[in-house]
Amino acid sequence: MYYSDDIIEEVRSRNDIVDLIGSYVNLKKKGSTYSACCPFHHEKTPSFHVSREKQMYHCFGCGVGGNVYTFLMEHENFSFPEAVEALAERAGVKLPEQSMSPEAKKQADAKNMIKDMNKLAAGYFHYLLKSERGKKAMEYLKKRGLTDETIVKFGLGYSDMYRDDLYKYMKSKGYSDADLKDSGLVRFDDKYGGSDKFWNRVMFPIIDVNNRVIGFGGRVMGEGEPKYLNTQETPVFDKSRNLYGLNLAKKSKRSGIIFCEGYMDVISMHQAGFDNAVASLGTALTMGQVNLIKRYTDHVYLAYDSDGAGTKAALRALEIMREFEMPARVISLKPYKDPDELIQAEGKDEFEHRIEQAVSGTMFEIQILANNYNQEDPQERTQFQKEAAKRLSLIMDPLERGNYIESVAKEYHIEPDSLKEAVTKYGIAGANRIDTSVFQQRRERKSPEEEKKNKQLKTERLLITWMINESSLFDTLKDIISPNDFFEPIYHDIVGRLFEQYEKEGKVTPASIMNHYQSQEEHQKVSSIMQQDFDMEVSPGEKSKVVTDLVKSVKRKSLDHQLEAAKGDLAKTGQLMLEKAQIEKIKIKLN
Ligand code: UTP
Ligand code: MN
Repeated sequence: MYYSDDIIEEVRSRNDIVDLIGSYVNLKKKGSTYSACCPFHHEKTPSFHVSREKQMYHCFGCGVGGNVYTFLMEHENFSFPEAVEALAERAGVKLPEQSMSPEAKKQADAKNMIKDMNKLAAGYFHYLLKSERGKKAMEYLKKRGLTDETIVKFGLGYSDMYRDDLYKYMKSKGYSDADLKDSGLVRFDDKYGGSDKFWNRVMFPIIDVNNRVIGFGGRVMGEGEPKYLNTQETPVFDKSRNLYGLNLAKKSKRSGIIFCEGYMDVISMHQAGFDNAVASLGTALTMGQVNLIKRYTDHVYLAYDSDGAGTKAALRALEIMREFEMPARVISLKPYKDPDELIQAEGKDEFEHRIEQAVSGTMFEIQILANNYNQEDPQERTQFQKEAAKRLSLIMDPLERGNYIESVAKEYHIEPDSLKEAVTKYGIAGANRIDTSVFQQRRERKSPEEEKKNKQLKTERLLITWMINESSLFDTLKDIISPNDFFEPIYHDIVGRLFEQYEKEGKVTPASIMNHYQSQEEHQKVSSIMQQDFDMEVSPGEKSKVVTDLVKSVKRKSLDHQLEAAKGDLAKTGQLMLEKAQIEKIKIKLN
């Protein structure tokens, strides 16, 4: 759909950003803004800010930012029209029926076609599995204990041995090479032409919550490398925002959602009645996935492999769950490797029992920690207790923290009062530890020219921020400074729009200016300018001086550039020199 600027602005203004983001992220009020741990990058202290006044958000850690549209585009992976539609519905705004913009239509068509092709391919693989050609694959699945009903429920299939079996099939159904190129099903080679991505594998279609086939996993039958082959990222397949089995698990009546590592684990669990199981798609758990399940459940279980890698993955998953305040329990599968093996060996009653016995994420983390230290050695034991205290200090709720201190003290034979004291003593340092990884990459050395350019950009940026925060400045500035004084193209553009808005409406609305920008990079730049707030850093008496200096600096650099460009033109140079002399007289007053 293509929507007019007026509609876009109306929909935007009817959706309060704090309400919207608050339904995804746990926002805490802090002065005039709200903050939280950023949903777009991993961090321990909140640097994600949302301003009701400006109707924008910005993360000072990773740089993302924008308005309600940007947020949904980033968070839900929506296209711009999809974000408009979702927000219109949320606010009860009826959208006019219009035709799609050619660009949007092209994108939507391309995605739909890939989904159609995937569906066709899944049907074909399933047909092959049931046919004579898929006999070996069927035997393999039966040997692994799957019933016919399960095979149908998960739409399992078989990709034939020939290198272009599916390719030929898709062509016979009318799809061209160009259509197939982005599907992830077929590879193209100059010499050999098209060939299938998957051959001679058992096929697991990956289905999203809307029941569309978005990709595949394919397993070798028996030994072979790689054991599983997965569809690469395509326009419809985003591994970080989908979960295997969620299309079924979302309808489960069981309590919570069980996360595990493998496709076969999910299938085994569902077959045994644990139809609330899901798995990541061959990658570690992501924040996008936790966000996704937040709509369906308020607590989770982890049934990760019991080996070292699985434990590590579980610890990482617990960290993410904690950031999203999603209570998590860990299911022990020992001595079996994964849920599938446990169920095959011991049956579903035992698995049910393991769920009941699951320990809380915190207790699990402390258990793992305890294993790393020799509890017989006083020094190591002390070290363990300190680390445990740091971990306990991360529990925000005082009652919950107290209860955990009690349990840990009992389980590990620590004097409760000493542990409590240790939590207070060592905890502060731990809890305030900032996730520094995001800052590290910024500290690379810059060349002198780059430094100079950055300084100029910073001056321009600061001045814009002031203009937004003190809109009375526009009256003063309109005869002194113009958009052309800003060199960074996007700043030039923003200032132009701000002046225009102020002239028309007598005020500026930062979030509506955002509507004009499309790319993520632009949104980050614009939001970082609009979201800054300097009132806290500058005393009222200093404001006028700070702004005056900024205006002078921007103006001086602008005139220097113009002088450079006017070299040889005497009249122009003279005029610019005069203007430059005037700069020193600029004096801006702010109250
Ligand atoms: P595992 O190696 O634990 O396999 O991988 P599994 O689930 O127990 O598989 P079976 O029981 O031997 O059939 C767990 C998950 O990691 C991804 C897959 O998503 C798999 O389900 N994986 C594993 C890959 O993507 N590629 C691989 O080569 C291996
Ligand atoms: Mn397995």
